[in-house]
Amino acid sequence: MFATPFLDLPPLDSASGTVVLPGSKSISNRVLLLAALSGGTTRVHDLLDSDDTKVMLAALATLGCGIRHNHVNGNTVEIDGLAGQLTASQADLFMGNAGTAIRPLTAALAVLGGDFSLHGVPRMHERPIGDLVDALRQLGCQIDYTGQDGYPPLRIGQPQLKLDAPIRVRGDVSSQFLTALLMALPLVAQQDVVIDVVGELISKPYIEITLNLLARFGITVQRDGWARFTIPAGSRYQSPGDIHVEADASSASYFIALGAVATSTTGTFDSKIRIEGVGAASIQGDIRFVEAAEQMGAQVASGPNWLEISRGTWPLKAIDLDCNHIPDAAMTLAVMALYADGSTTLRNIASWRVKETDRIAAMATELRKLGATVNEGADYLRITPPATVYDWKAASIHTYDDHRVAMCFSLAAFNPAQLPVRIEDPKCVAKTFPDYFEALLALSHTATAHIPVLCIDGPTASGKGTVAAALAARLGYHFLDSGAMYRITALAALRAGLVISTTDEAAIATLAQTLPVRFVDGKVWLGDSDVSEAIRTEEAGMNASKVSALPAVRLALVALQHSFRRLPGLVADGRDMGTVIFPDAPLKVYLTATAAKRAERRYEQLISKGISTTLEDLRDDLEARDARDSSRVAAPLKPAQDALLLDNSDMSIETSVDQVLDWWQSKQPFGLK
Ligand code: DC
Repeated sequence: MFATPFLDLPPLDSASGTVVLPGSKSISNRVLLLAALSGGTTRVHDLLDSDDTKVMLAALATLGCGIRHNHVNGNTVEIDGLAGQLTASQADLFMGNAGTAIRPLTAALAVLGGDFSLHGVPRMHERPIGDLVDALRQLGCQIDYTGQDGYPPLRIGQPQLKLDAPIRVRGDVSSQFLTALLMALPLVAQQDVVIDVVGELISKPYIEITLNLLARFGITVQRDGWARFTIPAGSRYQSPGDIHVEADASSASYFIALGAVATSTTGTFDSKIRIEGVGAASIQGDIRFVEAAEQMGAQVASGPNWLEISRGTWPLKAIDLDCNHIPDAAMTLAVMALYADGSTTLRNIASWRVKETDRIAAMATELRKLGATVNEGADYLRITPPATVYDWKAASIHTYDDHRVAMCFSLAAFNPAQLPVRIEDPKCVAKTFPDYFEALLALSHTATAHIPVLCIDGPTASGKGTVAAALAARLGYHFLDSGAMYRITALAALRAGLVISTTDEAAIATLAQTLPVRFVDGKVWLGDSDVSEAIRTEEAGMNASKVSALPAVRLALVALQHSFRRLPGLVADGRDMGTVIFPDAPLKVYLTATAAKRAERRYEQLISKGISTTLEDLRDDLEARDARDSSRVAAPLKPAQDALLLDNSDMSIETSVDQVLDWWQSKQPFGLK
């Protein structure tokens, strides 16, 4: 997951490959609650691991459910159900911003009774729940608002249930209120329980998911159209034992769009996007996004649980569509509309205004930043793409703590103007798809020249390694510690019985060319051996220094170092990064400090490792090494002509990092923040 303040997506050219999607949020949280309410143990397979499911699992654990995680066979969670009997009669439950958790839990706890507080993040306290509370109060539930009327936080007490008359619930704000009642009322169905929907029910496909899952847990709801639902007397939850969560159809929408926008129709190779985990047999309404994408021009092939998408019509066709049946996935259409041949109108989307953020306003604001013309109404959005390639703008997309805003705007990185797109607060995708950007970047291709590289060169003990690693972490970029390449090469050479000198130069170079090196979770592997510590000794440094003076070895390591230049970008540390390896890097920094300061830093480092030394010796050493390094023939130590010099003698690491970041920001087209 990218936990950086922003993620800069370079301009992307094309995409191809296979993505395995995480489980559906809607299905995951429904299944968790149903498993908790049922008798017996339920093994939930392929459960989504996200913020919203964590919120639900934590609440269920607080309420007394036994929960066991099993990561061996995919993501499986075992839930010991409560058989409709809460073991905790009092609890304080934090619901984050998870609508799919707070609504059904409120209903279930309200009919079972106890003393429960439910609250969430500030945005949760702005999301309406009044229609559900009104419906529950009608049947005798005791619910108080402890903040603002109509919104969480809530306090739930003991009910005095009256189930004779039909329960009326509004269906035109959120279908989740009806879902909540449908999941709660089987707990108290000693007699037939009837629910009447007032107003036109929106998002019917989500009700179909609810009914489908209720059936899997032993509850058959009778339905008259979409206006009346009856839970038969004697209904009882029964665990199905095992249940699989299908992949999230809304998450699939980004990759369906990716196929429609970014697969190549030229060239000889077969360029398409394959999505696994969800397909034609899906029970999720958002799977009908496929039809909307096809209308816009996507070519789609499908099986029960897979989809394959490639570009069909190009540019895409503008559409005018009632999106009530695909409320979440339709946000993706709004970004596809940027690539259409005219104005696209998305209608009947009033529910967007009460989601994670006011999504109509958010989409309009951010699409305009990219250069689109957008008209927004109470329940519609009309998007006209930038008129020409010159009308596109590089934009920093604000994401409003809304995962779907972040995910759908990433598709703007395929813009024909080849401008980068900045996604602010990329970690907000954790709500449903923590590794979304990794998945997108793994499928995306771009010209190497478009992948940004930030080079940090400088003399030994200037702090460049620490600064470079910190910069990579702040930008979410890959990190190349080029010194490690020489350290590993030297180690590999010695292990192969070679002598580090010109005599064995050719042999060492051959070895360096096919070095079986892997960097995994902060560890360095050479073949099957973990060499993370072996390459960090003083002796390994000396050997690296010797091996790095051999021109053939330097040449042999070029390809390996180039291979680190991967999406979304690279921070490269080492003496010849800006001069030899990445001469086209948009920012090169030459970090330096006085010999006295560097000696002090090295002194502290060595003393903390328990190695005794003196400042004078270190300073003499450093000065001698500088002189040798600057005058040596192979890769002498010198700043690139276009490098910015940063003397950090009197700066902390943090200040140095901030300074380089400022320089980096000033080179981006988004403006300083
Ligand atoms: O940064 P370091 O101490 O890990 O580097 C080990 C040796 O490799 C050091 O003597 C400098 C040399 N080196 C090099 O010649 N070129 C680079 N790009 C990086 C390091």
